[in-house]
Amino acid sequence: MSHADDHSGETRRDFLYYVTAGAGAVTAGAAVWPLVNQMNPSADVQALASIDVDVSGIEPGTQLTVKWLGKPVFIRRRSAEEIEAARAVSVSELPDAGAENENLGPEADAEDQNRSLDENGEWLVMIGVCTHLGCVPLGDAGEFGGWFCPCHGSHYDTAGRIRKGPAPRNMLVPVAQFTSPDVLKLG
Ligand code: FES
Repeated sequence: MSHADDHSGETRRDFLYYVTAGAGAVTAGAAVWPLVNQMNPSADVQALASIDVDVSGIEPGTQLTVKWLGKPVFIRRRSAEEIEAARAVSVSELPDAGAENENLGPEADAEDQNRSLDENGEWLVMIGVCTHLGCVPLGDAGEFGGWFCPCHGSHYDTAGRIRKGPAPRNMLVPVAQFTSPDVLKLG
């Protein structure tokens, strides 16, 4: 069983995919899709806890949104301009100075290098949930060129760090790693 929706009327480059145990989903107009990596029925729980996402079709400056463990996950391939903008910001300017990155220790600060998955900073992966009251922010929006949460006006930058508005923390970077150049494993 699968279905997919255009995630936002305003951001045509965002797509939302739903993944259920034992089945992947893909929608028209997209060349990327998540694959559940454990098809054994006895491994349903494990399948939900860990999914592989083919990211080969994501162009720089665009993002894919997958649904994982009941939440949207933003997988963004950042443009050189987005990386440059994020790296130009000093941690001292940030409302939340913590990396909020489950792949790093709690002491890691929010410099851009501690937010992206790869050394070059091209790949940014985050739980797409506003840290204020849980709305899903819009991509390519807001005063800092990253994400904007219209619920109460929180602006996130191109590293998903809160810059303005009521949200208290940067969007969370979940446990994730590349298992090949084209495959991102969540969980
Ligand atoms: Fe995002 Fe309130 S839920 S600003």
